[in-house]
Amino acid sequence: MDIGPMAVEHLPAVLDLGHRVYETSALPYTSWSLTAAAGHLDSPRSSCRVALSGTRVVGFVLGSMGFEHRDDWGYMEWIAVDPGLRGHGIAGRLVRECCAGLEALGASRILTDVETGNTASLALMRGSGFSENTTVMYLERRVGPER
Ligand SMILES: CC(C)(COP(=O)(O)OP(=O)(O)OC[C@H]1O[C@@H](n2cnc3c(N)ncnc32)[C@H](O)[C@@H]1OP(=O)(O)O)[C@@H](O)C(=O)NCCC(=O)NCCS
Repeated sequence: MDIGPMAVEHLPAVLDLGHRVYETSALPYTSWSLTAAAGHLDSPRSSCRVALSGTRVVGFVLGSMGFEHRDDWGYMEWIAVDPGLRGHGIAGRLVRECCAGLEALGASRILTDVETGNTASLALMRGSGFSENTTVMYLERRVGPER
């Protein structure tokens, strides 16, 4: 399994893997799209990596410098591993490589966000040196006949 920089030719496979593993009809994954993926790749200060089995994309992580108005914070926003290859440390390696890239770009801290029910992602991030900061909860108010 090789981890390397993500390139434009990986975009279709990255987009497809994301669509297979993210529930895009529900928060917090509703923004997964070609624009979301390409935006990271297109950023001049990005740290995007793919895990490759031969030429097949089996995992990815998308991170870039800049979080809201903080240019010196890195944001590791999206990560996924092919369901058939989980539990082998691929995501851990992707996180390490992404963070090393963001540090090299001058990050003074690196942010990520995890849905509280996502035990795999929480374990991954805690095991990779991340700890809880601010908690934000989405609240919704249903509108219309389907209340
Ligand atoms: C989260 C995800 C990327 C983890 O990928 P992975 O390659 O299986 O993770 P790793 O094998 O590198 O495991 C990393 C750590 O998380 C732990 N972990 C992984 N899956 C776990 C699970 N289902 N339950 C508990 N812990 C888990 C591992 O034990 C390991 O801990 P360690 O470092 O203490 O040994 C993968 O489950 C995934 O793609 N999920 C769907 C997409 C997603 O939710 N992405 C996050 C939001 S963008």
